[in-house]
Amino acid sequence: MTINIQNTKSGTPISKYIYGHFSEHLGRCIYEGLYVGEDSPIPNKNGMRTDVVEALKNIKIPVLRWPGGCFADEYHWKDGIGPKENRKTMVNTHWGGVTENNHFGTHEFFELIKQLECDAYVNGNVGSGTVQEMSEWVEYITMDGISPMADLRRENGHEEAWEMKFFGVGNENWGCGGNMRPEYYADLYRRYQTYVRQYGDKKIYKVAGGANVDDYHWTETLMKNAHWLMDGLSLHYYVHPKGWEEKGSALEFDETEWQVTCEKAAYMDELLTRHSAIMDQYDPEQRVGIIVDEWGTWFTAEPGTNPGFLYQQNTIRDAMVAAITLNIFHKHAKRVHMANIAQTVNVLQAMILTDGEQMVKTPSYHVFDLYKVHQDAETIDSHGTSSDTITYTISKKEDTIHLSVCNFATKGTEELFFSFETAINEVKEARYIVGDKMNAHNDFDHPEDVVIQDFDDYSINDNQLTVNVPAMSVLTLSLVG
Ligand code: AHR
Repeated sequence: MTINIQNTKSGTPISKYIYGHFSEHLGRCIYEGLYVGEDSPIPNKNGMRTDVVEALKNIKIPVLRWPGGCFADEYHWKDGIGPKENRKTMVNTHWGGVTENNHFGTHEFFELIKQLECDAYVNGNVGSGTVQEMSEWVEYITMDGISPMADLRRENGHEEAWEMKFFGVGNENWGCGGNMRPEYYADLYRRYQTYVRQYGDKKIYKVAGGANVDDYHWTETLMKNAHWLMDGLSLHYYVHPKGWEEKGSALEFDETEWQVTCEKAAYMDELLTRHSAIMDQYDPEQRVGIIVDEWGTWFTAEPGTNPGFLYQQNTIRDAMVAAITLNIFHKHAKRVHMANIAQTVNVLQAMILTDGEQMVKTPSYHVFDLYKVHQDAETIDSHGTSSDTITYTISKKEDTIHLSVCNFATKGTEELFFSFETAINEVKEARYIVGDKMNAHNDFDHPEDVVIQDFDDYSINDNQLTVNVPAMSVLTLSLVG
């Protein structure tokens, strides 16, 4: 099978924000996972776990979405500012009914953003919040001059405004964010976004709450009624191998479930194609982005854990889902402005799992590590066929070509031939992850069962690259012409 690579033509920029993450007040994502508090024996800086911050910086986390998810539409931001001992508590009704002490609030989020050296994506409350509350939050965060909210921020110890790059006007407003009809939400979006004021010259990218999976009517209605008032429209899609009710186990599954999981991940392509086609009717220039601000695997919570905390293990199968999906995002790079895998630590398809002071990096983390070279690169077109279990992507940044391949077959090795328009002089780096069984994973006793290794099963002959891609592997080669 030969794939012809058009490496002399220019392609579409791949936004680094496609590699974004999502953190919700859910289970142990924020508390324990990202934030342990200043007094914790776990090493931290201003309450943020040092090991987790460093690990996320290593994969060049570009943006973090917060505070939800469903939590966003019952979050009242004023409960999370001021001295911690005076902060109001609330019940996190969506996620385990636990008491939320609001110790992680706006100031803590922007401290985390600063430490991660990434951009902020804040999700506002439309479901149970007022226009005034949302408007004041934006003022509190972004107003540099004299104003009631900017003064309140100063009283709480932060002189300068923060930069908030992205703002979401509600979340899943068809479901946990208010059970609304698209016509009603479209009107609410028009109203709420009016008061997401632009203070200063740093533009806030406004994200309208978008469709659940294949709800094309939702996309149609939002675009028809409000496309000129939004920068992005969200899309949520989770992979449940056994369906929404049963979901399936993260660790115990057979080959059929493996296949179904990979096929369901590949469905993202159809979703993006069809939602984009609808958007094209109202926005042929493709100005409005699709923001896939929740995606990834959603399995049954690990036995013995609180089912409301959505804690699941993460195997080489999750790595396949990550690679398949990222390759699809690259294909749709013109429309997909941002994506945020759910969720960063200890929840759903997490990058990182923690237990007390211990931390492990998941196979999904390693895919984000292998793929970070594609951030802000340009896609390269290719033509040719490969087998059904191969998915690949190729991009160019300055003088380097990056090729990533995923083989989601469970057995065998696939020999692939890549034919470039110009000679390849050097392989700068070749690295991969591979599973020795379908549920290969890392845990606290075996944190390095799946790790990035050097890859050497390739050869170059002038402009031809031959790569032998093992089953259950994801690899990235960096080539110089
Ligand atoms: O990521 C978990 C939940 O999934 C989010 O809170 C919600 O938006 C979605 O239904």
